[in-house]
Amino acid sequence: MAKVYPLEPRKVAKVQTNFRRIVTDIPVPEALPILKELRTYEPACMEGQPPIVWDKAQGFTVSDKWGNQWLDFSSGVLITNAGHGHKKIVDAIVRQAQSPLLTTYCFPNESRAKLVKKLVEVAPKGFDKCFLLSTGSEAVECIIKLCRTHGVKVGGPKKNIIVSFDRAFHGRTLGSQQAGGIPDLKTWIQNLDPGFVQVPFPDGFRTKDTSFDLFEKTLAANNVDPDNVAGVIMETYQGGGADFGPPEYFQKLRQWCDKYNAVMVFDEVQAGFGRCGTFWGFEYYGVTPDLFSCGKGISSSLPISAVIGKADLMNQYGPGSMTSTHTGNPVCCAAALANVEVILEEKLVDNCAKVGAVMQTALSKLKDKYPTRVGCVHGRGLVAGVQMVKAGSETPDADLAWNIVRICIEKGVLFFAPVGFGGATLKICPPLCITEAAMLEGVSVIDEAIGQAIAEEKK
Ligand SMILES: Cc1ncc(COP(=O)(O)O)c(C=O)c1O
Repeated sequence: MAKVYPLEPRKVAKVQTNFRRIVTDIPVPEALPILKELRTYEPACMEGQPPIVWDKAQGFTVSDKWGNQWLDFSSGVLITNAGHGHKKIVDAIVRQAQSPLLTTYCFPNESRAKLVKKLVEVAPKGFDKCFLLSTGSEAVECIIKLCRTHGVKVGGPKKNIIVSFDRAFHGRTLGSQQAGGIPDLKTWIQNLDPGFVQVPFPDGFRTKDTSFDLFEKTLAANNVDPDNVAGVIMETYQGGGADFGPPEYFQKLRQWCDKYNAVMVFDEVQAGFGRCGTFWGFEYYGVTPDLFSCGKGISSSLPISAVIGKADLMNQYGPGSMTSTHTGNPVCCAAALANVEVILEEKLVDNCAKVGAVMQTALSKLKDKYPTRVGCVHGRGLVAGVQMVKAGSETPDADLAWNIVRICIEKGVLFFAPVGFGGATLKICPPLCITEAAMLEGVSVIDEAIGQAIAEEKK
């Protein structure tokens, strides 16, 4: 089980820079009643994050009520691509809410019409339909159904297998969690669906063999007949490590999907809307999927997600049979439309590519400086994972990663708790509007925190 951050305030050094300010003990003593109330009334699953009570978030900083300000390396959880609290997004939300129109179910509304048009316009050529939902998991569930319906239609009842990848994360609803490849998350599911099969993800660190042969060999070893595969789904990069695969692998996979009439899906819930230095993350691989899911950075704020795809796949269900109560909520749509406009107008994808390139170089130096404790640094654009290991091995070191996050919080750089294989990855994902100076300051704090955490181990 993941560690819980204790609610005992610790004396920490004061910090004051252009981006960070720490002026209290951490956690803040005055915040304890709120933190304790949450621990009393919520289940244990909600206790995972560092004990900071967010009060305001603007651009790439987050503040509490007690004078502390953090440089944000989390974007929430890769939500706020356009920055926190962008005025244009706030104004769009307020305007729509005050119009007043807060909900319409699936009755038409203008805000939804504008957003689906915009998302199809920014999607690569050939994607002509967009279906809106509320969460990333819901988008993945929808995609699983679309793949299987298509598979059974073109190949009969046995063509229902969904191939995904070891260590993948696609959400926490029953179907999306089974599409994921994290074994611990499957142990408590009853009646596991045998139609989900995982293959190794070609990250080059946990899976050394990055050849496409391994994909085919693993299917054969699992007695999967390729003709029975309805769809192959992968995160554009694996969120748990910010792991990308080699482009040639995905180009071969594209050919394989075409050969066996399997739907190729990229789950862009984390990777889309500029995060990897291109508008869509999968552009890096030089292939386009048949369907893709979006969420998180789609609005930089309110809950909304989407499935974008080719018409023949998207039109498989008749009127009224693929809907959700909050599909295309007008306020969420207004937020998402303003968000896409901000990303384009402010050239945030270019900023991500530019600042991201400097960030990847700066982070890779951590591997040189701490060669026995940093297993690898993976990433592109403004997303990276620093994977911590036990000295001189490839065994994930969750305790070390947890301590580094705690120390960073105490020094004014905000992270969510470690993620990924063995819970040992520091995930770095600031808003795409971050400046080079702020990003470099944050990376230097990570460097100090790694040194401090290693020194504390010896005490
Ligand atoms: C790649 C990917 N897919 C799906 C999801 C699930 O999204 P949500 O939490 O909005 O259901 C996540 C969330 O982290 C994700 O990273």
